Amino acid sequence: MTQHPKLLSPIELRGLTLRNRIVFGAHTNNMSDMGLPGPRTAAYLLERALGGAAMIVAEPMPVHRTGVLTRGNFLHSTDEVIPHFRKVTEPVKEAGAAILQQLYHVGAHGDSDLSFAPHWSPSGHASYHDSDGSHRMTGAEIEELIDAHVAAAVRCRKAGFQGVEVWAAYHSLLDQFWTPWSNTRDDQWGGSLVNRTRFSRTIIERIRRECGEDFIIGLAVSTSDAHDVTLSVENLLEIIALHDATGHVDYVTCGHGGYLDFERLMPTFLFAEKLTAPVTEQIRGVVKHAKVTSEAHVRTPENAEAIIASGQADLVSIVRGQIADPHLARKTMEGRAEDVRGCISCNQMCWGRRSRDYWISCLINPSAGREWEWGGDRFTTAAAPKSVLVVGAGPAGLEAARAAAERGHRVEIAEAAPQVGGQFRLAGMQPRRAQILDLLDWYERQFAKLGVALRLNTFLDADDIAAHPAEVVILATGSLPDPEARQRWLPSAGPLPGLENGRVWAPEEVMRREAGLGDTVIVLDEGGNWRGVGTAWMLAEQGKRVVIVTPDPCVGKEVARTSADGPARARLARLGARFVTEHVVSRWHGNGATVRSLLTGDEETIPASGLVVATTNVAFDPFPESFGDKTVHRIGDCAAPRQAPYAFHEGRKVALQI
Ligand SMILES: Cc1cc2nc3c(=O)[nH]c(=O)nc-3n(C[C@H](O)[C@H](O)[C@H](O)COP(=O)(O)O)c2cc1C
Ligand code: SF4
Repeated sequence: MTQHPKLLSPIELRGLTLRNRIVFGAHTNNMSDMGLPGPRTAAYLLERALGGAAMIVAEPMPVHRTGVLTRGNFLHSTDEVIPHFRKVTEPVKEAGAAILQQLYHVGAHGDSDLSFAPHWSPSGHASYHDSDGSHRMTGAEIEELIDAHVAAAVRCRKAGFQGVEVWAAYHSLLDQFWTPWSNTRDDQWGGSLVNRTRFSRTIIERIRRECGEDFIIGLAVSTSDAHDVTLSVENLLEIIALHDATGHVDYVTCGHGGYLDFERLMPTFLFAEKLTAPVTEQIRGVVKHAKVTSEAHVRTPENAEAIIASGQADLVSIVRGQIADPHLARKTMEGRAEDVRGCISCNQMCWGRRSRDYWISCLINPSAGREWEWGGDRFTTAAAPKSVLVVGAGPAGLEAARAAAERGHRVEIAEAAPQVGGQFRLAGMQPRRAQILDLLDWYERQFAKLGVALRLNTFLDADDIAAHPAEVVILATGSLPDPEARQRWLPSAGPLPGLENGRVWAPEEVMRREAGLGDTVIVLDEGGNWRGVGTAWMLAEQGKRVVIVTPDPCVGKEVARTSADGPARARLARLGARFVTEHVVSRWHGNGATVRSLLTGDEETIPASGLVVATTNVAFDPFPESFGDKTVHRIGDCAAPRQAPYAFHEGRKVALQI
């Protein structure tokens, strides 16, 4: 008896039977090659189809030159894309999944660097994506964009897509028409509800006419209560009911947040789970024809089952959960949901790369985006299995050991500490980050299943390694805080001036509760990532007075790429933390620090009972270059201290090579 009966039950969408209720929802993976879907896009989507997803909504197509938003956006308005998309759609369908494409236009929120075109919107309001304003569309331009949507849908049909998802979510162009705040027109496209929905209803009616009765049409909407100018749930329900009454909309999928509150759109671990389920339950109450999909932090099969079983939605979209584990659905079908590698809601390599206009990947699943070159998130058995010793069970060592064992190698992993995880475990002890600890438990479960010999409390020195019978040694010994606490922006100072005065601690010592900090703590954060920000947050939660000193123009500069920086700063501010930006610590006195402005050179002395120094680590590699005839690999921080994704990446990569 499956634990997920409702989630795994089939459902019909315009005559097409979906094998379960799990959708891999629309997201811009930014993987195209010169605007065409190539092997990276195809293998990425196919992997999720092989992994059991019932329906895949491919990366959106901007329907018009004014809607181009990313470097990887597909070429719009040309049939040139059709044969290339066929190479994507056919294999996905053969693998048993349905495939649709989202059609989008961002309206006012365009990107001039990518479109080199004015942003078009109903009433010429400001962009919330860049600092530009927008152009109030003429009637002819509105007709042009209707035509563009329809033409794009027709092209989708020719490319083998079984339907399209019309994007009216997140204060997109269609939503800008729906929302009275952004639609102040007094012609047939503005004013009454009927007028404000004319644009979207016309698009849908014409797509139905041009693409036929068997073509699936979805409608993407969103909900948020962050601003009172966005649509209320009541207004949204009214609008959905109006579209549903046309009989043309086969599903409504509801996301969270939008351009005005972007941090809610891909909610990080700072947010609750199952965010749109209460609203999709209400949407189900007003639709007569359309099925309803719940999006946003569904994350796990358990959450998904709960949503479907309680009647809050007909389908669930799990995007990041299936980026992190493309085989989430299949593992659930096989009754082994405990093998699903759970997304840790960090946004570091998915949105964190998309926001910088790279193709997306995943912190904990380095094969995301590399399926075409690594054979998916699957393993082939090594031709000649070897005995492998991994030294260090941080992210690099864990992934190397697991993946090597998946390939049939005999693996032993030694860790000096009593638990696996290294610095990553300490990160998991920061507020709200326990998903990291779940991931470490997952590794231990996988080790048990794969027969990896895990030796905890085992410090190996060079002689131990040399004497070990393993043919391959993978050194993954990580990094240590810089004992001299050198600052990048004080290059001539060398060691931190005043270090000898004591009461200076590394974030790792704070997280291990080894630091005697007193009541008032200065956190010198040179990284701008969770190592400093999360440690400061934990101290503030403990009731300490926290002063964050950073050379960056804002606290959490590196977290910004994940969209979690604003919420993190808000929490710190509410807890009374003081931010001292664009400053360095010019001297520590043991009872306070003199800080210097990078802008004026002015100095100020801030009293404090402890100093936490989040500066760049140094590699820990006390070993000789080689160990006789053993093959030696160095991966992760012991090769060069970096953020966690690159440790996971190198762990997987080395395991694929041996
Ligand atoms: C990298 C990335 C890009 C996204 N791009 C889009 C997009 O182009 N259109 C869209 O409707 N949603 C987009 N989304 C939002 C997702 O569809 C989804 O609503 C969101 O990730 C929350 O769901 P999840 O918790 O299952 O990831 C994107 C999400 C991610 C992570
Ligand atoms: S990068 Fe983080 S949030 Fe994104 S899919 Fe991977 S684990 Fe999830």
